[in-house]
Amino acid sequence: MRTKIKQITEAEVGKGLTVKGWVKSVRRSKHVAFIELNDGSSFAGLQVVVDASFNNYEQLLSQITTGSALSVTGKLVATPGREQTFELQAQEIDIIGMCDAQEYPLQKKHHTFEFLRTISHLRPRTNTFGAIARIRNALSFATHLFFQERGFLYITTPLITAADCEGAGQLFTVTTLDLEKLPKTKEGIVDFAHDFFGKQTYLTVSGQLNVECYACALSDVYTFGPTFRADPSETTRHLAEFWMVEPEMAFADLQDDMDYAEEYVKFCVNYALEKCIEDIDFLDCFFSKGLTDRLRHIGKTSFERVGYTKAIEILQKASKKFIFTPNWGDDLQSEHERYLVEEYAKRPVFVYDYPEKIKAFYMRRNDDGKTVAAMDLLVLGIGELIGGSQREERYEILKEKMKQYEISYDDYWWYLELRKYGAVPHAGFGLGFERLVMLVTGMENIRDVMPFPRYRGYTNF
Ligand code: 4AD
Ligand code: MG
Repeated sequence: MRTKIKQITEAEVGKGLTVKGWVKSVRRSKHVAFIELNDGSSFAGLQVVVDASFNNYEQLLSQITTGSALSVTGKLVATPGREQTFELQAQEIDIIGMCDAQEYPLQKKHHTFEFLRTISHLRPRTNTFGAIARIRNALSFATHLFFQERGFLYITTPLITAADCEGAGQLFTVTTLDLEKLPKTKEGIVDFAHDFFGKQTYLTVSGQLNVECYACALSDVYTFGPTFRADPSETTRHLAEFWMVEPEMAFADLQDDMDYAEEYVKFCVNYALEKCIEDIDFLDCFFSKGLTDRLRHIGKTSFERVGYTKAIEILQKASKKFIFTPNWGDDLQSEHERYLVEEYAKRPVFVYDYPEKIKAFYMRRNDDGKTVAAMDLLVLGIGELIGGSQREERYEILKEKMKQYEISYDDYWWYLELRKYGAVPHAGFGLGFERLVMLVTGMENIRDVMPFPRYRGYTNF
């Protein structure tokens, strides 16, 4: 039976066991060889010691190179005082998969992240991408744990939709129409009545509107799935395909929404610190100095909360010169967000109560008639991690806003109807999962925290 390297403890010392994995490095002399084997179960690998008396020593060692896959059976021995507490004294070695040492692109030297993106099929073999994958996995599990422990139901929402929930116009069309022979209406526009669904459909930009239906029946729910935006901005924080975590709470207002968002982010950070400390320390050491301390701080500090109007005042009074002059009614620019997090709050900060004009139609109008109960959570190095709001639950106001925003009643009659039958105050938010992974890994480009990123001009692998 195979033992995963992560599971090996003191208890196995003196016993025989079999491990399987890939060779990270080989050091050999006439008398002995040391093979560093890693199976991905943990950051640390296992040192395999092969004695020169081993059957076919020379021939075997000539075939074992970085990247090859092995099965090793042997005896676990303690190595007190050394960096690794155990090593495996090999008794039997099977080369499961040889690796062409001349051509293998991952030699023991530093590779740039740009280069590693061109070998996305092999980059998970590096220490860095192994660490990122384990942290991403832990954050995903932490997400389910957090919501499940609090009685939220996991709801899956459709990826194909006929509606554009954010009104943002960054949609990918889904079609089976023959692009060479597009059917046209009398007016000369594409006639989607002939398309697969009988109307124009898209990949979803958010599961929110669908998940609201379940919140308005089952109280606390969440969806966690892929979302798609044909965002032209080629930044280090945008992908065309990304994952979003979207909880939705009935009988909740904007304060509850921020409370949940804060608790959830801290939970994830603390969970990763508990489960992936070796990976985080490695990233701290090589790529993101101070990462571990920054995460510990986020895990226990209380987040700042500042109203949009006050945030604009803070920015206007700042001695810093901005490229974009902060102005009430405008969206915050990245430079403004950075100032609020880095200079003003020095910790994660919620900005709430934004002008109605710059936010989505479904956000609840405040009593001042000018702002809506919306919030964004801004964090160091990334900017917006979460966007959320209390939803407009008042039928007449929502109907009026739909008209104002030119939201089609034919597409959204059901959403409006939720406001007719037992409407309750409710609120929710969306967290960009890759941005959370960036926060916890300290990686600076979102393309490096998504296993196979998709962005403008790029769908390789
Ligand atoms: O602020 P957004 O657009 O909010 C919504 O979609 C709401 N429906 C959420 C809700 O209330 N249920 O997006 C939410 C988050 C952003 O804060 C950001 O972290 C992330 O999704 N995000 C992206 N991440 C990667 N690539 C992109 N192109 C992203 N666009 C948004
Ligand atoms: Mg947003």
